[in-house]
Amino acid sequence: MMNIAVMGYGTVGSGVVEVLERNRGVISQRADGDIYVKYVLDLRDFPGDAIQERIVHDFEIVVNDPEIGIVVETMGGIEPAYTFVKRSLLAGKNVVTSNKALVAKHGAELLAIAAEKHINFLFEASVGGGIPILRPLQTSLTADVVEEIGGILNGTTNYMLTKMFYEGADYDEVLKEAQAKGYAERNPEADVEGYDTCRKIAILCSLVLGKQVDFEDIFTEGITKISKEDMMYAKEAGMTIKLLASAKRNGDKMCAMVSPVLMKKTHPLYSVNDVFNAIFVRGNMLGDAMFYGSGAGKLPTASAVVADVIEAAKHPSDSMMGMWTAEKALLQPVDGVSRQFFVRMRGDADEKKAALEAAFGEICVLRASGLTGEFGIITGKMTEGTYKKQAETFPEIIQMIRVED
Ligand code: HSE
Repeated sequence: MMNIAVMGYGTVGSGVVEVLERNRGVISQRADGDIYVKYVLDLRDFPGDAIQERIVHDFEIVVNDPEIGIVVETMGGIEPAYTFVKRSLLAGKNVVTSNKALVAKHGAELLAIAAEKHINFLFEASVGGGIPILRPLQTSLTADVVEEIGGILNGTTNYMLTKMFYEGADYDEVLKEAQAKGYAERNPEADVEGYDTCRKIAILCSLVLGKQVDFEDIFTEGITKISKEDMMYAKEAGMTIKLLASAKRNGDKMCAMVSPVLMKKTHPLYSVNDVFNAIFVRGNMLGDAMFYGSGAGKLPTASAVVADVIEAAKHPSDSMMGMWTAEKALLQPVDGVSRQFFVRMRGDADEKKAALEAAFGEICVLRASGLTGEFGIITGKMTEGTYKKQAETFPEIIQMIRVED
């Protein structure tokens, strides 16, 4: 039998306990023995919940109990999660976490400790919720050089943008619904400002490059400025708006960014809706692969956490996860990336057409029915740097959204 401790009895932590109980039979079979939750560490009490008798408030009980072989961290945030995870690893305990902020910031150090101790630091649930992506990258796509990786990595914003697209709903209204459904992070800024997506693409890039990709280096723009009106233009153009994470290789470097994009109907990510996530991988030998599924929520995320617990229970004295080193990977600046841009501006399209064509090449004019005194254009293909320079000469611009090929 393997005794484990779960730190944090919130949405994911309580999901972990539920998955372990509901699927006890198959889990015991696959883990070569029972997995027993000996402690749940939380500041709160849960009177009336059967878990209460296993609740402890003191981390020292967990870290000093030699019977605990695996510690599950589902607290979120950096502190005290970082201190507790590091101390657990140093005490020789396998650690499983769903905490992308922790992995993105301290992954290299924690992986190095796990490797030195011949134990596991596993974090499948930190990217793509219930979708297996980190282990496939580590164990299946090993013959390839990954040329491109990215996709829709945040369930909350995808749910919100889907509602805005199909129901013409307002941003504030859909954010409240996403929070009520338990998709959003503790701090909604992490979702809507793109910080959560940024940390997830940083983890994917670090794995692909084998070096530390600092999330602070990734250009990140969220969806807070995306309006119902933007969505009207997207619809008129036969497109939708998605929050896209993308990382493309150029030699031994990658260019990574997170931003809302206009996406055509023919794009493979166009129909990834609601809370679903999809991760797109392009290998130099494999070609394209997509990993699609439930990207957030209690049970899907807990399913990935428990799968890691099973892995650690089967291999308690091996490091199953490859690693990335603390060496910093250098990213290419986004200013050199070429693409088209959707631009909304005040005024009359016919009057400005010549000046716009001189600045942005061959443009396509868009109008959204019901919106007066403004219009939209899609520019020709140009680098982000050139676009920014040209846009400075048009103070009437009210919005710019990148267009994905
Ligand atoms: N808030 C995150 C999301 C949870 O919406 O995707 C899963 O990481």
